[in-house]
Amino acid sequence: MERTLSIIKPDATSRNITGKINSMIENAGLKIVAQKMIRMSKEQAQNFYIQHQDRPFYDNLVEFMTSAPVIVQILEGEDAIAKYRKIMGATNPDIAEEGTIRKTFAISIDKNSVHGSDSPEASSKEINFFFSQVEIFN
Ligand code: CMP
Repeated sequence: MERTLSIIKPDATSRNITGKINSMIENAGLKIVAQKMIRMSKEQAQNFYIQHQDRPFYDNLVEFMTSAPVIVQILEGEDAIAKYRKIMGATNPDIAEEGTIRKTFAISIDKNSVHGSDSPEASSKEINFFFSQVEIFN
């Protein structure tokens, strides 16, 4: 069993499609073992995406992620990290596979509806960033 950190982004919360995204997650066999809606502060978004701080899209990304509430969640399952990346689809929805979350719902590479951890190291770091142990259910 593995866990991954998922964020349902502002473009999705503001379009009222968080339930549809959760259905796709659950239909793929991933279990939501923690979930909360939060409004990220600028400092939180800057820190969460610190590895992108030198990329040209960093400021836009921080502004977007703080523009409306997000849902942060922990997904659990066999190969959860790779499985979630597969059902999210490519970062750029133009090249995402049919049937993926991003192909179905994303508006652009920025407003791409969901985030998922890209490695076991990132997953534990990102889970600890948002959740304390008492918030996680099995
Ligand atoms: P996410 O998985 O949340 O990680 C960083 C985000 O930056 C990414 O999804 C995209 O929404 C956004 N982004 C914007 N432009 C790019 C780009 N050229 N490459 C990667 N990510 C980008």
